[in-house]
Amino acid sequence: MKLLDGAGRVALVTGAAGGIGRALVKGLREAGARVTALDLSEPALTAVYGRDEHVSTIAGSAASEGDVKSAVAATLDTFGRIDFAINLAGMVGAGRLAETSLADWQRLIDINLTSAFLLCRECHRALKASKGAVVLISSTNGLNGGSFLSGAAYAVAKAGIINLTRYLAKEWAGDGIRVNCLAPGPVATPMLDRLKADEHAALKRAIPIGRYATAEECAAQILFFCSTHAGSTTGTVANISGGLVLD
Ligand SMILES: NC(=O)c1ccc[n+]([C@@H]2O[C@H](COP(=O)([O-])OP(=O)(O)OC[C@H]3O[C@@H](n4cnc5c(N)ncnc54)[C@H](O)[C@@H]3O)[C@@H](O)[C@H]2O)c1
Repeated sequence: MKLLDGAGRVALVTGAAGGIGRALVKGLREAGARVTALDLSEPALTAVYGRDEHVSTIAGSAASEGDVKSAVAATLDTFGRIDFAINLAGMVGAGRLAETSLADWQRLIDINLTSAFLLCRECHRALKASKGAVVLISSTNGLNGGSFLSGAAYAVAKAGIINLTRYLAKEWAGDGIRVNCLAPGPVATPMLDRLKADEHAALKRAIPIGRYATAEECAAQILFFCSTHAGSTTGTVANISGGLVLD
């Protein structure tokens, strides 16, 4: 059984130059879909997707209303439709609440949560036309409260993603749009590069399966959410944490 038949389908992916983003775009391309890949840096996007004529790259911020509007317009202009809107853009914070500046709080909320609001709102018309799917990305920090390692704003934003998923699943069901999200624990991507060797070891010991999730495992879950196999699946949160957080 094929995970996703993407022939004739178009995905708009934010955070597309990151670890999970690269695995996802590879999976979407292998499924036959065409992709608009949005991320902050054009050189980073070109380094990954420069040779693929079916991936359109856009440098911009997923937290900028103007950039998201432009990305949606460019996708419709280039490919004529949007079937899958997938928001992977994200960034961790750090530190304790008493030391968190208002600017850092707002920046983390914007990158991790407002980005999802913007992508969903701007894609709604196209997704309604295609009977498409949205996949958002939360984190186990959004399930268990997180910690100072990623900071309060990250945990709050990722919890917000879960309720945005549930809210939209209900509001958009009548439009034929399904909305689901992932809540990964640690995933082996550049996002974890900030941890020291002893922190990696301690974290892996705490994970019942004894290792981090892979970007490919996250991508496969997203492909499933986009596929017809998930036709009855909406408003769900896929916990991909190897048993680390079980709610
Ligand atoms: N890696 C993990 O352990 C883990 C765990 C849980 C959730 N997540 C979430 O998964 C998502 C993808 O992360 P990843 O693991 O691939 O990490 P990553 O750091 O490899 O990728 C994140 C990507 O998002 C991009 N990005 C950041 N801010 C952006 C913005 N304003 N506009 C557009 N792009 C922006 C970055 O440039 C980067 O390419 C993130 O939302 C992250 O919070 C990751």
